[in-house]
Amino acid sequence: MIASGLLVPRSRGEEVRRNLAESGRLRTDLEIRREGEFLVLPVAEGGDGIPASWGERVERNFEENPRKGPARYRDLLPWPEVEKESLPRSFDIVGDIVLIRLPAELEPRKGAIGQALLDFVPGARLVGLDHGVHGPERRRKVERVAGSGPWRTRHRENGVDLDVDVEQAYFSPRLAREHARVAEEVGPRDRVYDLCCGVGPFSVTIAHLGRAARVTAVDSNPDAIALLRDTLARYPFGGRVAPVIARLEEFLPDAEPVERVVLNLPHEGIKYLPSVARTVAPGGRLYYYEVTPRTDLEGRGVELVKSLGPTGSFAVVAERPVHPYSPASDLVAFVLERAG
Ligand SMILES: C[S@@+](CC[C@H](N)C(=O)[O-])C[C@H]1O[C@@H](n2cnc3c(N)ncnc32)[C@H](O)[C@@H]1O
Repeated sequence: MIASGLLVPRSRGEEVRRNLAESGRLRTDLEIRREGEFLVLPVAEGGDGIPASWGERVERNFEENPRKGPARYRDLLPWPEVEKESLPRSFDIVGDIVLIRLPAELEPRKGAIGQALLDFVPGARLVGLDHGVHGPERRRKVERVAGSGPWRTRHRENGVDLDVDVEQAYFSPRLAREHARVAEEVGPRDRVYDLCCGVGPFSVTIAHLGRAARVTAVDSNPDAIALLRDTLARYPFGGRVAPVIARLEEFLPDAEPVERVVLNLPHEGIKYLPSVARTVAPGGRLYYYEVTPRTDLEGRGVELVKSLGPTGSFAVVAERPVHPYSPASDLVAFVLERAG
Protein backbone atom coordinates (compact mmCIF):
# COMPACT_ATOMS: atom_id res chain seq x y z
CA MET A 1 0.00 0.00 0.00
CA ILE A 2 1.12 3.59 -0.64
CA ALA A 3 2.11 5.34 2.58
CA SER A 4 4.46 7.98 4.02
CA GLY A 5 8.03 7.00 4.73
CA LEU A 6 11.37 8.37 5.87
CA LEU A 7 14.39 7.79 3.61
CA VAL A 8 17.58 7.28 5.68
CA PRO A 9 21.08 5.91 4.97
CA ARG A 10 21.39 2.32 6.23
CA SER A 11 24.14 3.39 8.64
CA ARG A 12 21.56 5.56 10.47
CA GLY A 13 18.66 3.13 10.06
CA GLU A 14 18.65 1.68 13.59
CA GLU A 15 19.08 5.07 15.27
CA VAL A 16 16.15 6.62 13.33
CA ARG A 17 13.99 3.47 13.64
CA ARG A 18 14.42 3.67 17.40
CA ASN A 19 13.65 7.39 17.50
CA LEU A 20 10.48 6.83 15.48
CA ALA A 21 9.39 3.83 17.58
CA GLU A 22 10.06 5.60 20.88
CA SER A 23 8.10 8.66 19.80
CA GLY A 24 5.22 6.48 18.56
CA ARG A 25 5.67 7.51 14.90
CA LEU A 26 6.88 4.21 13.39
CA ARG A 27 4.23 2.14 11.60
CA THR A 28 4.75 -1.47 12.63
CA ASP A 29 1.95 -2.78 10.37
CA LEU A 30 4.16 -2.13 7.31
CA GLU A 31 7.57 -3.60 6.37
CA ILE A 32 10.69 -1.42 6.23
CA ARG A 33 11.88 -1.11 2.57
CA ARG A 34 15.50 -1.53 1.46
CA GLU A 35 16.68 0.65 -1.41
CA GLY A 36 20.41 0.03 -2.01
CA GLU A 37 22.34 1.97 0.64
CA PHE A 38 19.09 3.44 2.03
CA LEU A 39 16.14 2.27 4.10
CA VAL A 40 12.61 3.65 3.94
CA LEU A 41 10.90 3.51 7.35
CA PRO A 42 7.07 3.66 7.28
CA VAL A 43 5.80 6.53 9.42
CA ALA A 44 2.41 7.42 10.87
CA GLU A 45 0.29 9.41 8.44
CA GLY A 46 1.23 13.07 8.46
CA GLY A 47 4.38 12.26 10.46
CA ASP A 48 3.83 15.41 12.50
CA GLY A 49 6.85 16.70 14.35
CA ILE A 50 9.46 14.44 12.73
CA PRO A 51 12.70 16.51 12.75
CA ALA A 52 14.12 17.11 9.24
CA SER A 53 17.50 15.81 10.48
CA TRP A 54 16.05 12.27 10.85
CA GLY A 55 15.62 11.78 7.08
CA GLU A 56 13.83 12.80 3.88
CA ARG A 57 10.03 12.47 3.76
CA VAL A 58 8.91 10.27 0.81
CA GLU A 59 5.87 8.27 -0.40
CA ARG A 60 6.38 4.57 -1.17
CA ASN A 61 4.55 1.33 -1.82
CA PHE A 62 5.05 -0.77 1.38
CA GLU A 63 4.38 -4.48 2.01
CA GLU A 64 2.22 -5.41 5.01
CA ASN A 65 4.23 -6.63 8.03
CA PRO A 66 3.09 -10.16 9.00
CA ARG A 67 4.87 -9.90 12.40
CA LYS A 68 3.07 -6.75 13.57
CA GLY A 69 3.67 -6.11 17.29
CA PRO A 70 3.03 -3.25 19.72
CA ALA A 71 4.39 0.10 18.55
CA ARG A 72 5.63 1.21 22.00
CA TYR A 73 6.81 -0.59 25.16
CA ARG A 74 4.15 1.29 27.15
CA ASP A 75 1.49 -0.60 25.17
CA LEU A 76 2.66 -3.77 26.99
CA LEU A 77 1.93 -2.30 30.44
CA PRO A 78 -1.62 -3.07 31.64
CA TRP A 79 -2.03 0.28 33.40
CA PRO A 80 -4.61 3.02 32.91
CA GLU A 81 -3.28 5.50 30.30
CA VAL A 82 -3.12 8.30 32.86
CA GLU A 83 -0.56 6.33 34.90
CA LYS A 84 1.67 6.00 31.83
CA GLU A 85 2.10 9.74 31.34
CA SER A 86 5.46 9.98 33.12
CA LEU A 87 6.95 6.91 31.38
CA PRO A 88 10.06 7.96 29.43
CA ARG A 89 9.63 7.77 25.66
CA SER A 90 13.29 7.00 25.07
CA PHE A 91 15.76 4.38 26.25
CA ASP A 92 19.17 3.21 25.07
CA ILE A 93 20.09 -0.11 23.52
CA VAL A 94 23.70 -1.27 24.00
CA GLY A 95 24.17 -4.64 22.33
CA ASP A 96 21.55 -6.87 23.97
CA ILE A 97 21.18 -4.60 27.02
CA VAL A 98 18.44 -1.98 27.42
CA LEU A 99 19.12 1.02 29.68
CA ILE A 100 16.42 3.37 30.90
CA ARG A 101 16.25 6.33 33.29
CA LEU A 102 13.12 6.56 35.41
CA PRO A 103 11.63 9.45 37.38
CA ALA A 104 11.55 8.69 41.15
CA GLU A 105 7.77 8.11 41.19
CA LEU A 106 8.13 5.21 38.74
CA GLU A 107 10.98 3.41 40.54
CA PRO A 108 8.58 1.18 42.57
CA ARG A 109 7.25 -0.12 39.22
CA LYS A 110 10.70 -0.69 37.71
CA GLY A 111 10.23 -4.49 37.52
CA ALA A 112 7.13 -4.25 35.34
CA ILE A 113 8.71 -1.56 33.15
CA GLY A 114 11.86 -3.66 32.77
CA GLN A 115 9.84 -6.72 31.74
CA ALA A 116 7.88 -4.65 29.18
CA LEU A 117 11.15 -3.44 27.66
CA LEU A 118 12.57 -6.96 27.65
CA ASP A 119 9.51 -8.18 25.74
CA PHE A 120 9.41 -5.16 23.43
CA VAL A 121 13.02 -4.81 22.23
CA PRO A 122 13.94 -7.60 19.80
CA GLY A 123 16.94 -9.58 21.07
CA ALA A 124 17.05 -7.87 24.50
CA ARG A 125 18.64 -10.00 27.27
CA LEU A 126 18.96 -7.62 30.20
CA VAL A 127 17.30 -4.36 31.27
CA GLY A 128 19.04 -1.93 33.62
CA LEU A 129 18.02 1.25 35.38
CA ASP A 130 20.57 3.87 34.40
CA HIS A 131 21.70 5.90 37.42
CA GLY A 132 24.14 7.99 35.38
CA VAL A 133 27.91 8.08 34.94
CA HIS A 134 30.20 8.85 37.89
CA GLY A 135 33.80 9.60 38.78
CA PRO A 136 36.70 10.62 36.57
CA GLU A 137 36.36 7.41 34.53
CA ARG A 138 32.68 8.06 33.84
CA ARG A 139 31.61 4.55 34.92
CA ARG A 140 27.87 3.99 34.72
CA LYS A 141 25.87 2.94 37.79
CA VAL A 142 23.27 0.44 36.64
CA GLU A 143 20.65 -1.63 38.47
CA ARG A 144 19.30 -4.85 37.01
CA VAL A 145 15.49 -4.77 36.73
CA ALA A 146 14.74 -7.57 34.25
CA GLY A 147 16.56 -10.32 32.38
CA SER A 148 19.84 -11.97 33.24
CA GLY A 149 23.55 -12.30 32.49
CA PRO A 150 26.54 -9.97 32.63
CA TRP A 151 26.76 -6.25 31.86
CA ARG A 152 29.28 -7.08 29.20
CA THR A 153 28.03 -7.23 25.63
CA ARG A 154 28.92 -6.52 21.99
CA HIS A 155 27.42 -3.42 20.42
CA ARG A 156 27.25 -3.06 16.64
CA GLU A 157 27.99 0.44 15.43
CA ASN A 158 29.08 1.70 11.98
CA GLY A 159 29.61 -1.88 10.79
CA VAL A 160 31.83 -3.02 13.71
CA ASP A 161 31.08 -4.99 16.89
CA LEU A 162 32.52 -3.17 19.89
CA ASP A 163 33.24 -4.98 23.18
CA VAL A 164 31.42 -2.98 25.84
CA ASP A 165 30.81 -3.37 29.58
CA VAL A 166 28.20 -0.84 30.58
CA GLU A 167 29.41 -0.80 34.23
CA GLN A 168 33.17 -0.88 33.78
CA ALA A 169 33.79 1.69 31.05
CA TYR A 170 31.98 4.61 29.44
CA PHE A 171 30.01 3.96 26.27
CA SER A 172 27.07 5.79 24.71
CA PRO A 173 25.17 4.50 21.67
CA ARG A 174 24.09 8.11 20.98
CA LEU A 175 27.50 9.03 19.56
CA ALA A 176 27.50 6.58 16.64
CA ARG A 177 26.89 9.21 13.97
CA GLU A 178 29.62 11.43 15.42
CA HIS A 179 32.14 8.58 15.47
CA ALA A 180 31.44 8.00 11.75
CA ARG A 181 31.54 11.72 10.87
CA VAL A 182 34.99 12.18 12.34
CA ALA A 183 36.27 8.91 10.84
CA GLU A 184 35.11 9.98 7.36
CA GLU A 185 37.24 13.15 7.61
CA VAL A 186 40.48 11.32 8.42
CA GLY A 187 42.88 10.97 5.49
CA PRO A 188 44.81 7.76 4.75
CA ARG A 189 48.17 9.28 5.82
CA ASP A 190 46.91 11.10 8.91
CA ARG A 191 48.17 10.25 12.36
CA VAL A 192 45.43 10.38 15.01
CA TYR A 193 45.20 10.78 18.78
CA ASP A 194 41.90 9.56 20.25
CA LEU A 195 42.16 11.13 23.73
CA CYS A 196 39.82 9.84 26.44
CA CYS A 197 38.93 7.06 24.03
CA GLY A 198 36.79 4.92 26.37
CA VAL A 199 36.25 1.55 24.64
CA GLY A 200 37.58 3.19 21.46
CA PRO A 201 34.64 3.74 19.09
CA PHE A 202 36.35 6.69 17.32
CA SER A 203 39.58 4.70 16.88
CA VAL A 204 37.87 1.50 15.76
CA THR A 205 35.63 3.30 13.24
CA ILE A 206 38.62 5.19 11.80
CA ALA A 207 40.63 1.96 11.40
CA HIS A 208 37.62 0.04 10.06
CA LEU A 209 37.11 2.63 7.31
CA GLY A 210 40.74 2.06 6.32
CA ARG A 211 41.69 5.61 7.33
CA ALA A 212 44.78 6.90 9.17
CA ALA A 213 48.41 5.79 9.10
CA ARG A 214 48.24 5.22 12.86
CA VAL A 215 45.76 5.79 15.66
CA THR A 216 46.86 6.16 19.28
CA ALA A 217 43.95 5.60 21.68
CA VAL A 218 44.51 6.93 25.20
CA ASP A 219 42.42 6.45 28.34
CA SER A 220 43.15 6.31 32.07
CA ASN A 221 40.62 3.50 32.67
CA PRO A 222 42.41 0.13 32.28
CA ASP A 223 39.04 -1.66 31.90
CA ALA A 224 38.18 0.54 28.90
CA ILE A 225 41.52 -0.19 27.25
CA ALA A 226 41.13 -3.95 27.93
CA LEU A 227 37.75 -3.88 26.14
CA LEU A 228 39.29 -1.95 23.23
CA ARG A 229 42.11 -4.51 22.97
CA ASP A 230 39.50 -7.31 22.83
CA THR A 231 37.67 -5.55 19.97
CA LEU A 232 40.89 -4.91 18.04
CA ALA A 233 42.01 -8.54 18.44
CA ARG A 234 38.97 -9.68 16.43
CA TYR A 235 39.66 -7.53 13.35
CA PRO A 236 42.46 -7.48 10.76
CA PHE A 237 42.60 -3.67 10.96
CA GLY A 238 43.18 -3.89 14.73
CA GLY A 239 46.96 -3.57 14.35
CA ARG A 240 46.60 0.05 13.18
CA VAL A 241 45.35 1.18 16.60
CA ALA A 242 47.75 1.46 19.55
CA PRO A 243 45.85 1.46 22.88
CA VAL A 244 47.58 3.26 25.75
CA ILE A 245 46.60 3.30 29.44
CA ALA A 246 47.57 6.78 30.60
CA ARG A 247 46.22 9.96 32.05
CA LEU A 248 46.36 12.93 29.71
CA GLU A 249 48.73 14.58 32.18
CA GLU A 250 51.23 11.75 31.49
CA PHE A 251 50.64 11.35 27.76
CA LEU A 252 50.49 14.94 26.48
CA PRO A 253 53.91 16.36 27.49
CA ASP A 254 55.84 14.00 25.18
CA ALA A 255 53.24 13.65 22.42
CA GLU A 256 54.50 14.70 18.97
CA PRO A 257 52.05 16.75 16.86
CA VAL A 258 49.65 14.79 14.62
CA GLU A 259 47.07 15.68 11.96
CA ARG A 260 43.87 14.71 13.86
CA VAL A 261 43.16 14.88 17.58
CA VAL A 262 39.88 13.91 19.24
CA LEU A 263 39.17 15.06 22.80
CA ASN A 264 35.91 13.72 24.21
CA LEU A 265 35.84 14.57 27.91
CA PRO A 266 32.81 16.86 27.90
CA HIS A 267 32.88 18.21 31.47
CA GLU A 268 36.59 18.55 32.11
CA GLY A 269 38.19 18.67 28.66
CA ILE A 270 38.47 22.46 28.81
CA LYS A 271 41.29 22.29 31.37
CA TYR A 272 43.37 20.18 28.96
CA LEU A 273 42.53 22.14 25.81
CA PRO A 274 45.71 24.30 25.57
CA SER A 275 48.04 21.31 26.06
CA VAL A 276 45.94 19.18 23.68
CA ALA A 277 46.07 21.96 21.06
CA ARG A 278 49.88 21.76 21.15
CA THR A 279 49.62 18.20 19.82
CA VAL A 280 47.83 19.33 16.62
CA ALA A 281 50.20 19.63 13.65
CA PRO A 282 50.00 22.70 11.35
CA GLY A 283 46.98 22.18 9.04
CA GLY A 284 45.60 19.57 11.43
CA ARG A 285 42.22 19.44 13.19
CA LEU A 286 41.06 19.14 16.78
CA TYR A 287 37.62 17.61 17.47
CA TYR A 288 36.59 18.89 20.86
CA TYR A 289 33.36 17.91 22.67
CA GLU A 290 31.69 19.98 25.34
CA VAL A 291 28.33 20.27 27.08
CA THR A 292 27.22 23.79 26.12
CA PRO A 293 24.12 25.66 27.34
CA ARG A 294 22.06 26.55 24.23
CA THR A 295 22.11 30.20 25.20
CA ASP A 296 25.96 30.20 25.14
CA LEU A 297 26.46 28.42 21.81
CA GLU A 298 26.83 31.54 19.73
CA GLY A 299 30.39 32.72 20.07
CA ARG A 300 31.54 29.71 22.10
CA GLY A 301 33.81 28.47 19.26
CA VAL A 302 35.61 31.80 19.06
CA GLU A 303 35.97 31.86 22.86
CA LEU A 304 37.59 28.40 22.72
CA VAL A 305 40.07 29.54 20.08
CA LYS A 306 40.98 32.56 22.25
CA SER A 307 41.50 30.26 25.25
CA LEU A 308 44.25 28.48 23.28
CA GLY A 309 46.45 31.51 23.76
CA PRO A 310 49.75 31.58 21.91
CA THR A 311 49.55 27.97 20.67
CA GLY A 312 49.28 28.98 17.00
CA SER A 313 46.35 30.23 15.04
CA PHE A 314 43.25 28.06 15.18
CA ALA A 315 39.93 28.70 13.41
CA VAL A 316 36.51 27.15 14.05
CA VAL A 317 35.63 25.16 10.92
CA ALA A 318 32.47 23.51 12.31
CA GLU A 319 30.33 23.40 15.41
CA ARG A 320 27.37 21.05 15.66
CA PRO A 321 25.06 19.85 18.42
CA VAL A 322 25.52 16.07 18.71
CA HIS A 323 22.55 15.34 21.00
CA PRO A 324 20.56 17.08 23.73
CA TYR A 325 22.24 16.73 27.15
CA SER A 326 19.67 18.41 29.40
CA PRO A 327 16.56 20.50 28.76
CA ALA A 328 18.78 23.59 28.26
CA SER A 329 22.08 22.21 26.93
CA ASP A 330 23.55 20.05 24.16
CA LEU A 331 26.67 17.98 23.72
CA VAL A 332 28.38 20.03 21.02
CA ALA A 333 31.23 19.10 18.65
CA PHE A 334 33.68 21.94 17.88
CA VAL A 335 36.10 21.33 15.00
CA LEU A 336 39.13 23.62 15.31
CA GLU A 337 41.73 23.77 12.52
CA ARG A 338 45.31 24.90 13.01
CA ALA A 339 46.73 27.20 10.33
CA GLY A 340 49.07 25.37 7.92
C1 LIG B 1 33.03 10.58 27.82
S1 LIG B 1 34.16 9.27 27.97
C2 LIG B 1 34.80 9.14 26.33
C3 LIG B 1 34.22 8.09 25.48
C4 LIG B 1 34.69 7.86 24.09
N1 LIG B 1 35.55 8.86 23.52
C5 LIG B 1 33.48 7.58 23.20
O1 LIG B 1 33.29 8.25 22.19
O2 LIG B 1 32.73 6.66 23.55
C6 LIG B 1 35.53 10.00 28.79
C7 LIG B 1 36.71 9.05 29.05
O3 LIG B 1 37.81 9.83 29.53
C8 LIG B 1 38.57 9.05 30.43
N2 LIG B 1 39.34 10.00 31.25
C9 LIG B 1 38.87 10.84 32.22
N3 LIG B 1 39.86 11.61 32.70
C10 LIG B 1 40.99 11.26 32.03
C11 LIG B 1 42.35 11.71 32.06
N4 LIG B 1 42.74 12.68 32.87
N5 LIG B 1 43.23 11.14 31.23
C12 LIG B 1 42.85 10.13 30.39
N6 LIG B 1 41.58 9.67 30.30
C13 LIG B 1 40.66 10.23 31.11
C14 LIG B 1 37.55 8.22 31.17
O4 LIG B 1 38.12 7.04 31.70
C15 LIG B 1 36.49 7.96 30.07
O5 LIG B 1 36.69 6.70 29.48
